[in-house]
Amino acid sequence: MDLIGPAPSVPTPGIVPFAPAGNFVTQFGLKENPFADSVHPAFFFRTDSHANAFRNMTLAVDFRSSLGMVTGPSGTGKTLVSQLLLQHFEEPKHRVVLVLVTPGLSKTGLLREILSELNLALPAGIARVQDLVKLLSNHIIEMHQQGQRLVIIVDECHLLSSDCLHIIRTISNIETPQEKLSTCLLFGESRLADRLAHSSYASLSNRIYMRCELSPLTPAEVAQYVRFRLMTAGRLEELFTESALNALHEYSGGICRSVNKIAMLSLIEAADRRSPLIDETLVRDAAKRM
Ligand SMILES: Nc1ncnc2c1ncn2[C@@H]1O[C@H](COP(=O)(O)OP(=O)(O)O)[C@@H](O)[C@H]1O
Ligand SMILES: [Mg+2]
Repeated sequence: MDLIGPAPSVPTPGIVPFAPAGNFVTQFGLKENPFADSVHPAFFFRTDSHANAFRNMTLAVDFRSSLGMVTGPSGTGKTLVSQLLLQHFEEPKHRVVLVLVTPGLSKTGLLREILSELNLALPAGIARVQDLVKLLSNHIIEMHQQGQRLVIIVDECHLLSSDCLHIIRTISNIETPQEKLSTCLLFGESRLADRLAHSSYASLSNRIYMRCELSPLTPAEVAQYVRFRLMTAGRLEELFTESALNALHEYSGGICRSVNKIAMLSLIEAADRRSPLIDETLVRDAAKRM
């Protein structure tokens, strides 16, 4: 069999061999995809809910609380807020580490993750939980003596085992007689808050002074959000009709990730159909394809 095959034929001028599917970026006068599933801070749209979460977490650090928590349904912007916080706190006053929890993360895994983010090499023979805690504790005290506060941002906390949650409580308890020496900011789906309400987590839960729940966008916010992201990507004129924006809210439930998905599928379809605007039908068709 000839695996190489004949040379590809040269397309006839004027006839596009494949429709430039999804090339909505150039077609709609954009510089980039406005609805990419990324957490690029330039695309951050300030809602009361997101601003409140950001402010509360900065207050938790500024007031030297040991714990703060942001919960919310999946896709509402928790990771994006955590990225904004990561950028916000600066050295030398703060040292921020970010830990992304994966399913099955063990106690030692969590501690090793934090130590490695702090560039701390593990001396040979150090493997037990209490040794790792001691190493971290000594380092936090040293940082404190040098005027630096450790901020640990933990994302996807709903995946933490109860053992790991107890390790977080232990870390949050590292203190001098005057103050707690680090702040852990916990980000997780709403079920994390339900879980921590159980009496077995009372000693952890009691230490969380600042907590907030991110809410889905309202219909008006969805419209502003879409316009803002389009503008950030370079499109100044309206692209979605008003009824399309209402349909976007209806199908996404105001969840940012779903808004992005439906909006992007609508743009791809509109580009294929050579439609200059996104109307309600395009949005409904896109939502059904999700
Ligand atoms: N306030 C916001 N402004 C701009 N984009 C947002 C906002 N909130 C969420 N998004 C976007 O929605 C998507 C999901 O956000 P993400 O932070 O990953 O949600 P979560 O961590 O809650 O699951 C990402 O593409 C993110 O950029
Ligand atoms: Mg996330």
